[in-house]
Amino acid sequence: MALLAPSILSCDFSRLKEQLLMAQEGGVEVIHIDVMDGHFVPNITFGTLIVEAVRKILPKAFLDVHLMIQNPQDCYLDFIHAGADNISFHLEVVPDFDFLINLILKAGAKASLAVAPGTPVHMLDQILPKLYMVLLMTVNPGFGGQKIIPGMDQKIIQLKKKIKLRGLNTLIEIDGGIHENNIEYLASCGASIIAAGSLIFSQEDKITQKVREISDKIK
Ligand code: DX5
Ligand code: ZN
Repeated sequence: MALLAPSILSCDFSRLKEQLLMAQEGGVEVIHIDVMDGHFVPNITFGTLIVEAVRKILPKAFLDVHLMIQNPQDCYLDFIHAGADNISFHLEVVPDFDFLINLILKAGAKASLAVAPGTPVHMLDQILPKLYMVLLMTVNPGFGGQKIIPGMDQKIIQLKKKIKLRGLNTLIEIDGGIHENNIEYLASCGASIIAAGSLIFSQEDKITQKVREISDKIK
C-alpha cells in the first residue's frame, strides 16, 4: 500500500488554493513541497511563505518538505515553524547528516534524508533507524516533468530489503518521473510514499478525479 504525495511544483500558483482543495477532495493526505535554492540545483522555487500558505489552506495535511538547498542547517527550523511535518534534506550536501537529523527531531518534526539517483544507498546504513523516510530521487533533482532514470526500481528493491532485514519502520519515498505506466510497479518494489507533480497538476480541472484514480491504483 502506498500514499500519493502531490508535488505543488507543478501546480498553477495563481490557483494554489483551488488546486490544493481539489487534491484534498480526492483524498490526499500528504503534500510534497519542493524548495530549491539555485545553488544545489539550478532552479529557484519558493521558501517558508508557501509552506505557511499551504498549512493555512490544508490545516490537517502532512506537509512533506523536500529541501534541495545547499545549507539546510541554516533554515530547517524556519520550515518547521512554517508548518512542515517532515524535513528531507540531501545527503550529498550534509556529509555529517547525523547532527542535522538530531536537530530536526529535537524541533519536533520527522527527519528524512534525500538521495540523488547516483548516490548509493549503503551510505545510509548507519542512520537508517533514525530516519522517518528515505527519499529516493528517481530523476536528477531540480525540475518537474522529467523522465524516470532507468534502474531506479532496483535501488528501491535493494533499500526495501535492507529495511526489512533489519526490522525497521523507515519508509521509502520516491520522487520524479512517476506516471500511470510505472506507479503500480514502483509501489510494488517497496515505495510507500509517492511524490508526483506533473501527473497530478497537469490535470488542471480534473485534479480530484486524477488523485482518486491514481490513489486507487496503489491502495
Ligand atoms: C524534482 C522534484 C520533484 C518534482 C517531481 O526535483 O523533487 O518533487 O516535483 O515532478 P514530476 O512528478 O513531474 O517528475
Ligand atoms: Zn521533490
